[in-house]
Amino acid sequence: MKKIFLTLTIITIALFAFNSCKHEVPVLIVNTTPQPGPVANNGVCFESEILPLFQSNCAKSGCHDAATHKEDLVLDSYANIMRKDIVPGNADNSKIYRVLFETGKDKMPQPPNADLTIAQKALIAKWINEGAKNTVNCNTSCDSNQFKYAANVSVIINTFCTGCHSGTVPSGNIDLSNYNAVKVQALNGRLVGAVTHTAGYSAMPKDANKLTDCQIAQIKKWVAAGALNN
Ligand code: HEC
Repeated sequence: MKKIFLTLTIITIALFAFNSCKHEVPVLIVNTTPQPGPVANNGVCFESEILPLFQSNCAKSGCHDAATHKEDLVLDSYANIMRKDIVPGNADNSKIYRVLFETGKDKMPQPPNADLTIAQKALIAKWINEGAKNTVNCNTSCDSNQFKYAANVSVIINTFCTGCHSGTVPSGNIDLSNYNAVKVQALNGRLVGAVTHTAGYSAMPKDANKLTDCQIAQIKKWVAAGALNN
């Protein structure tokens, strides 16, 4: 009897060791109770800073949208994002964060989709380390009288748009990954048409909430002032 137990133990350990070679992380069910309201000082805001990154980089057609749900992951809402592979308070143990640094087939996003920026990866780590909370209606400051490319417009586009509109095959063949490319769409009217949901244009960001009035005002004023690289 003892021998059988020992054998089983060895098999179990061997299986576990084999599994960990494949970089598998156990599926984790976590508490998804929303924690709405303003975030604490310097806290990351899920709704305005993190969700758009997931929606534009991960919840895309062919990847982790509801229709495709690769790896059983639908990364389009707080509840769905929290279903597995996130350890609140511990980014380094969260597969959803670790895959951003992987290579080969484990790397996310997969080419031809562009990598997240260092700043975006750091923001996701900070959000997970702060407890991966469902922070909404945060006091994120937006001033519609500020409409510079570097400080305002590019920040909006990099958060809400470049996940789809970058890489070697940008969605709709619209590249928004650098100033010159954005300028083209600004001057031909498509940028404003899309974010204002004007009839005749595809409504953007796709499959996500409309930008806030303040963000739309910043983009419109920047375009009206000549779409400068300022
Ligand atoms: C989840 C992917 C996704 C996100 C996020 C996204 N787009 Fe798009 N975009 C598309 C696709 C796909 C198309 C092609 C048209 C369509 O399928 O609706 C498109 C088309 C466009 C067009 C052309 C519209 C037209 O009618 O000519 C513009 C401009 C555009 N997007 C701008 C943006 C901007 C600005 C953002 C961010 C605020 C954004 N997109 C976010 C996927 C996305």
